[in-house]
Amino acid sequence: MRIYDIIEKKRDGKKLSFEEISFFVTEYTAERIADYQASALLMAMFINGMDMEETVALTESMAKSGDMLDLSVINGITADKHSTGGVGDKTSLIVAPICASLGIKMAKMSGRGLGHTGGTVDKLESIPGYRVSLSTKEFFEQVDKIGIALIGQTGNLAPADKKLYALRDVTATVDNKSLIASSIMSKKLAAGAKNIVLDVKCGSGAFMKNESDAAGLAELMVKIGKDCGRNTAAIITNMDIPLGTHIGNALEIKEVIDILKNRGDERLRELCITLSAEIIRLSHQIDYNKAYDMAVNALSSGMALNKFKELIEVQGGDAYVIDDPSVLPVSKCKCCVLADKNGYITDMNSQLIGESAVLLGAGREKKDDVIDYGAGIILHKKTADRVENGDMIAELFAENNAQIENAVKLFNKSYKIGDTKPPEKPLIYRTIR
Ligand code: URA
Repeated sequence: MRIYDIIEKKRDGKKLSFEEISFFVTEYTAERIADYQASALLMAMFINGMDMEETVALTESMAKSGDMLDLSVINGITADKHSTGGVGDKTSLIVAPICASLGIKMAKMSGRGLGHTGGTVDKLESIPGYRVSLSTKEFFEQVDKIGIALIGQTGNLAPADKKLYALRDVTATVDNKSLIASSIMSKKLAAGAKNIVLDVKCGSGAFMKNESDAAGLAELMVKIGKDCGRNTAAIITNMDIPLGTHIGNALEIKEVIDILKNRGDERLRELCITLSAEIIRLSHQIDYNKAYDMAVNALSSGMALNKFKELIEVQGGDAYVIDDPSVLPVSKCKCCVLADKNGYITDMNSQLIGESAVLLGAGREKKDDVIDYGAGIILHKKTADRVENGDMIAELFAENNAQIENAVKLFNKSYKIGDTKPPEKPLIYRTIR
């Protein structure tokens, strides 16, 4: 087999076989295919598209390019959750303890943040002492024992995706449903859970800007998951408005603790319950309404909070943060953004708010940037809220005033105040099963 022939075939709009796609992935991972040839094939895939069989072949080949975790060594039902990325999205840190407190084994590996969306691992690292690196053996043992582990990526999961994603990022080939779906699902398959729930975001802070594109991506991922023997469902959710009120690592941990104490932002709480209910429904094969009630009860009874506390303790963190979140880091400088007229917040742009948080030091522009865990934004007003002149819209935190000045300039472009209250957008558009 020759890569030249495979590129030519896809360039001419023909369907590639499983063997051809698998050859490409294996040989590229082993560095026996050059970047320029891989780029040419990716562009041909992007322009001419891939059908379901080709997309599944690409997903499986990338999943098998490295370690495939075998979670069958863990006693019980395993589940995983994935979000396509959003601003203020701390749902994994709430959903995983809810589900684990109900006996589902949550073996979760998460990524670091890059650009305007934050990463779960960075948020966890803002808890003093919390270890995000466990060996695979420790990871399995912990999930078996307490039902939950939240760590950074370990081992060599889907290395082909890592290489191909880096190439797509610089060759304008990210934005294609088959390539995005296979990239995400290859990592989920390699991570080994039997039940997978995907939170597919749509709106200003997300990859997919409208509901129909998000639904197309979600349907594709659900089909891939099922074809590969995993129970899979996806929920399409709104990302026009940041999720919750806190953006930034330690700030988001504070908000997580608040929700686990059964209070805080209603939309965030609702989304966490919905995602948990879908995981519980799939894992226990029960009616959705029953699963929903179980998730609500896990929050109101304190079971989920206790599970989060146990997780922090076992992974070496200071569990006192649960009792007193003020021990979490907070950056030195603070600035309040005030409304300059009466009216309603008519619009908020999640992406610009996420980028403002990066300027404050809460996220990375480049892979190696160092994060300031105490930096970020607390939103006091969101879309459709009434404001009077002088009301506080947000508080911004950073280590120095130059960062604050830059971030405030950008933040001020992220919202509008008008005379008419805008209609509220739904938080959850639909579920794809
Ligand atoms: N996230 C991924 O992991 N892969 C993509 O292609 C896009 C988003």
